[in-house]
Parts: sequence; structure tokens; C-alpha cells
Amino acid sequence: MSPAGAKRNLLSIVDLEHDLLALLQRSHEMKQARRRGDRSPTRPGTNLAMIFEKPSTRTRTSFEVAMNDLGGHALYLSPKDMQLGRGETIGDTARVLSQYVDAIVYRAFRHADEVALAAGASVPVINALDDREHPCQIVADLLTLYERWDGKFAGRKLAYVGDGNNVLNSLMLGAALVGLHLTSAIPSKYRPPADLVKQAELLAKASGGSIQFTERPLDAARGADALYTDVWVSMGDEAEKDARETAFQGYQINADLVAAAHPDVWVLHDLPAHRGMEITDEVMDGPRAAIWDQAQNRLHAQKAILELFLPPGRPG
Ligand code: CP
Ligand code: NVA
Repeated sequence: MSPAGAKRNLLSIVDLEHDLLALLQRSHEMKQARRRGDRSPTRPGTNLAMIFEKPSTRTRTSFEVAMNDLGGHALYLSPKDMQLGRGETIGDTARVLSQYVDAIVYRAFRHADEVALAAGASVPVINALDDREHPCQIVADLLTLYERWDGKFAGRKLAYVGDGNNVLNSLMLGAALVGLHLTSAIPSKYRPPADLVKQAELLAKASGGSIQFTERPLDAARGADALYTDVWVSMGDEAEKDARETAFQGYQINADLVAAAHPDVWVLHDLPAHRGMEITDEVMDGPRAAIWDQAQNRLHAQKAILELFLPPGRPG
């Protein structure tokens, strides 16, 4: 939690440490309310700037619809149309935007730029994915499991198969916060950074969870309550495409992995998927996939996140 009076940012899922369970419950309530036709317009008159350096389908749309539901307004800003693209600094951009809007969502190539924007802004900055984390995605993922497991994470086994990327980094920290037992099957070269693994291990120790690694997907999947995968080639890694597609052969969620898991297993993927690579069509379109509800949950999770980070009324 930030010091009293200091503005908060959401750069890592750990920034939600003390709010995560309440946030999941609030997201769930907002989902139920929306189904009854109540869109929860709890932040009327607020404005959100959204800077996207990379493509997005889910994150952009769900943030924009979330702001509309909350009674506010979202502006989509592409660096190529901004003075950022002509050399204006991130710090100066942050300082100016802070005078117009109540929060800034930022999808960046580099985590360092995310930190620079947060340092220069006097309003909250929310990480919409960078090369280190994807915290908003993991709130939606945990919501998907929370709803299927009646809000109880203790003792549940989660298996991740594939690349040790931004999604796995946030998943690892998020799983550790809620006390899940996470085993990740990743080729050793592609494991997450040591500092993040250490941080997750410490959090897991406190929550009763655990963080483990293997190079054998079947070992990770055995008895798992949930299976999770993400693309082998993330945005920004395109130059390594051939090497990665070779290294990740066999790191696929398919019928064999689902059969090795618990019979009530749920399969997750943050999307977009490369069908036939990290996951098969059969599993994506099969009865154990929670993937489509997971994508829907981006909207409900983001509404609860925005409600937490936006002031309850137009600031002076
Ligand atoms: N999962 C996710 O962040 O998707 P987008 O890249 O479409 O936003
Ligand atoms: N790991 C992927 C996630 C996309 C939502 C990427 O960074 O491209």
C-alpha cells in the first residue's frame, strides 16, 4: 500500500497485495450487476488516457467499455499520433496528461518506460502490459478461478506450460499472493527473472502457496486444478520466432495434458492464441476451456480496478 496521501500506481500485481481478494469480490459483484442491467456508474465525470505502444483487442476494448460503464470517458492515444513519437519525453507527457485526466493506462514495450511515466504523473498509472508484467490480465484470470472455486484458492494446483514471459511473471506473483501451488513447465533458458521468482517464493511462503519449475509439461499437469498457457512469441520477441518455435515444441496444452490433470480442470489462456502451437483447437473449443469467460472477465476486473484507482467524483 502507498503511504497515506501518495498516489498509487498499478505497475505490478503486487501493488494490489492488500486489495486483491476484495477486488475479486467486487469484480464478481459488478459482473452480476451488469447481467441485471446495472452497469455500476460509480465514477461519473472521470477521464482516462490510454497509451498503447502495441496492438490490443481485449485490453483496449475492455478498458474503454469499463470507463463508459462507470460513467466516465476513455481516450485512446497511439504514440505515433502523439508528440511522444517525435521525441517529447515520457516525463513531460506524464506531467501534461495528469492535468487533463484522472488516471493513465499504459501498454509499453519497456517496463522502464512504464516506471518513468508513473514517476512523472501525478495521477495513477495502470500497466496494461509491458515486457515484465501484465497485472490486469491476472486479476481477470484469478477472477475466473475464484468464480469456479467458490472464492477458495487454498490447496489448489495451477500448472503453467510455455514461455516464462510477462503473463507468467504476473501469474506467478498473483498465484503466490492468493496461496496457489503453481508449477511452471518452461525450458530452462526461458524461465522468469530470478528476482521475480524470489519475490514470488517469499509471497508464497507467507500465503501457504508454492512456486515450482520443471521442464516436463506432463509432470506439471498431473492432478492440476487449472492449466494455463500463453504464446511462445510475445509482442517484441518476433526476431526470435524461429528459435522459440523450436525450443517450445512439446510445451503445448493438448488432450494428453488435460487427461493428466484433475477431471474438473479448467484451462486458461489470456489470448490471442496461436492455435496448434501452445494450445490445440480441441482444448480451446472443448468443455474444460474457461478461456472465453476469462476474456469476458477482463471487463469486470478492469471496472473494479478503475473504481479502486479513480477518485469518486470529478477532482477540482
Ligand atoms: N490478453 C490481452 O491482453 O489481449 P490484448 O492484447 O488483445 O489486449
Ligand atoms: N505474452 C503476450 C501477451 C499478449 C496479451 C505478449 O506480451 O505479447
